[in-house]
Amino acid sequence: MEVVIVPDAHAMGALVAGFIAQLVAKRPNAVLGLATGSSPLPIYRDLERQLQDGSLSLAGCKAFLLDEYVGLTANHPQSYRATIGREVTERLDIPPDAVVGPDGSATDLLRACEAYENALMAAGGIDIQLLGIGVNGHVGFNEPTSSLASGTRVKTLSAQTRADNARFFESADEVPRHVMTQGIGTILRARHLVLVATGERKATAVAAAVEGPLSAFVPASALQLHPHATVVVDETAASQLQLAPYYRATYNAKPPWQGL
Ligand code: GLP
Repeated sequence: MEVVIVPDAHAMGALVAGFIAQLVAKRPNAVLGLATGSSPLPIYRDLERQLQDGSLSLAGCKAFLLDEYVGLTANHPQSYRATIGREVTERLDIPPDAVVGPDGSATDLLRACEAYENALMAAGGIDIQLLGIGVNGHVGFNEPTSSLASGTRVKTLSAQTRADNARFFESADEVPRHVMTQGIGTILRARHLVLVATGERKATAVAAAVEGPLSAFVPASALQLHPHATVVVDETAASQLQLAPYYRATYNAKPPWQGL
C-alpha cells in the first residue's frame, strides 16, 4: 500500500486527477470506478479543469458507480446516480450511456446485483477505483463486519452512516435504510484502488485501515490485500498515522504515479 500525505484537499484532488489523466493518456477507453461523498469532489473538479483547458478527454471512458441507495429512483436528487450525474459525468465528457450504476430501484434487487456484476465483467473490470472512507471504516457501503470476499449485494446501513448522510436529505428519516454496493471482493478486483480522505474526522478510520489489523470490522483495511492500493490523505486525516514520517520519505523518493 502506498500512503501519500498531501497538504490539503486541493492537492489531493490534483494528485488523483493526475493519476486518472495518466491512465487515460495510455488507455483512452479506461474503465473508471466513481465514488460519491464529499471526499472525491476535488478530484472531479480537477478533471473538469483539465477538460476545460483541453488537456483531457474522457469521451472514450466507461464509468461504474460504486454504490446506490435502495428505493430511490435514478432521478431522485439524492440517488447516487443523480448525484454522480450532477457532480461528475454531466460536467465531463463521459457519454451518459457509458455510466453504469447498481439499480437500487429494481423490483428484483438480487437480479440487479447480478446484472451489475455482469456489466462490470463485460467491461473488462475497473482500471482505477476511487474510494472514500466512512468514519466507521466503511468503503462503498460495506459496513463493519462486511465479508471481505463479498460481491455486489444489498446491505443495511448502520445508524452512524445514516446519521452522517442525513445532511443530504430534508430529514434524517428520509435516509434510506438499505443500499446496493459493490462488495469488498468486487472492489479488490479493480486494478488500482485509490482511497482518499480529508479532515480530522477521518483520522481514526484512516489509521485503522492503513495500520490496523486486516479486519471485516474495518472494511477499508481490505486494501491491505490489494497489490496496487494508494491512500491519499491530507495532514489532518493523516494525524493518527504512526508511520507518517516514513510515508513522507517514501513518497518523496518515488512518486506513486510512476508505477501506473
Ligand atoms: C457514503 C458513501 C461512501 C463514502 C462515504 C464518505 O457513505 N457510500 O462511498 O466514502 O459516504 O463520504 P464523505 O466523503 O462525504 O465523508
